[in-house]
Amino acid sequence: TYVVIDNCIACKYTDCVEVCPVDCFYEGENMLVIHPDECIDCGVCEPECPADAIRPDTEPSMEEWVEFNRKYAEMWPVITTKKDPMPGYEERDGEKNKREKYFS
Ligand code: SF4
Ligand code: F3S
Repeated sequence: TYVVIDNCIACKYTDCVEVCPVDCFYEGENMLVIHPDECIDCGVCEPECPADAIRPDTEPSMEEWVEFNRKYAEMWPVITTKKDPMPGYEERDGEKNKREKYFS
């Protein structure tokens, strides 16, 4: 599976949702996640993210993000249409510790 990691937080470009063939992106207030059980591993979303926030779970230390993505995908509504990124996304892109700062 692919997962969304912390640089999506407070940016939310949403380019990713337009390309997913199985519509498995889910939207929270300031972040998107992928449902790991629905993702078919096609990989087309990864290069679409301007924040480089989509990764394959084969990278090191991704277990925590897989569980994080699964947990919120089951709580949040699906998103299939691109929308404007969040206000201030340019300044937020690349910031450290976004999960601690902006995700509650
Ligand atoms: Fe969707 Fe493919 Fe990305 Fe999985 S890898 S979230 S199926 S676009
Ligand atoms: Fe987030 Fe990147 Fe999609 S910032 S909303 S994972 S395009």
